[in-house]
Amino acid sequence: MNQMTVHTAKPYDILSERGLLSQTGALCRPVNGGRKAVIVADSHVCPLYGDRAARSLEAADYTVSRFVFPAGEESKRLSTVSDIYGALAQAQLTRPDLLVALGGGVTGDMCGFAAATWLRGVDFVQIPTSLLAMVDSSVGGKTGVDIPEGKNLIGAFWQPRLVIVDPDVLDTLPPDFLTDGAGEVIKTACIKDEALFERLETGRALDRDQLEETVWRCIDIKRGVVERDERETGERKLLNFGHTLAHALERYYHYHTLTHGRAVALGMLRITRAAEQQGLTAAGTAARLEKVLVRYGLPTDDPAPNARLLEGMAMDKKRAGSQLDLVLLHVIGDAFVHRVPLQTLDRFFGD
Ligand code: GLY
Repeated sequence: MNQMTVHTAKPYDILSERGLLSQTGALCRPVNGGRKAVIVADSHVCPLYGDRAARSLEAADYTVSRFVFPAGEESKRLSTVSDIYGALAQAQLTRPDLLVALGGGVTGDMCGFAAATWLRGVDFVQIPTSLLAMVDSSVGGKTGVDIPEGKNLIGAFWQPRLVIVDPDVLDTLPPDFLTDGAGEVIKTACIKDEALFERLETGRALDRDQLEETVWRCIDIKRGVVERDERETGERKLLNFGHTLAHALERYYHYHTLTHGRAVALGMLRITRAAEQQGLTAAGTAARLEKVLVRYGLPTDDPAPNARLLEGMAMDKKRAGSQLDLVLLHVIGDAFVHRVPLQTLDRFFGD
């Protein structure tokens, strides 16, 4: 079994092995002494993996209930969290008990937020079932929901007690979801690992036989960043490469039709083109990035009007007063934060 520890204020392990989902209960027991567990999953994931996780938790002496919500980013809202609270009340989930986030990024963010706020904080475990959740959102304790004004504007840092990665679930992941996760893999390579980017350029890093190794490398990069900057005061901002514009695009499309990984792809390329034009990024970087995005079936152009996106970017979490922190690349594998006054944002993007 692959294992690493994330040394945050309260350290936790990330475990990875094929078939690990069936050991959920035995893995949770050493880190949580509760009697009850509530599995939070969406309407796609619960029928696929809910029974396996529940049986395993029951075998480890948990009384298990499930909360299932409609799949999709539109569900990542306060009303769904409120419904989760209702389910937790119904299950009489107490402080020592456990929440289990079984699913992709939406599930992990929302279940984590419910865990952070129920009874002022209970344990939760992440079991990511999408590539995107494995390589990014399940690690690092960012939890939250969207509101119409912006993505992830409500949330809390709340680290999981454990992350369980079962690569078996990637074998049945629809190609569309693999494509979406590729957006975050490419982001990780862009900001921290040129060698990984080169493997992506040659087209092998996301092949079935290399996928597990790629996932583990991305997780390890994220682990390091989160350990050095748990609350995003410095280096962790680099993980937001492409996200300022991505969140504006997702908001523009009402968290519907454009998925997160695709939005990140568009955001990374657009900001890199703009930075390159201003001499902030090495010439040729955007072309290299565009080629990789195309290789993995990610979009490179979108018709959303600039004015609306600039409006959305002004609502970004990374705003500090009248300034916005943009993440740019010096070159592939080396990112930096570039602070711009909000009133010059239109010029930055060449509007
Ligand atoms: N997804 C970016 C972060 O966890 O900081």
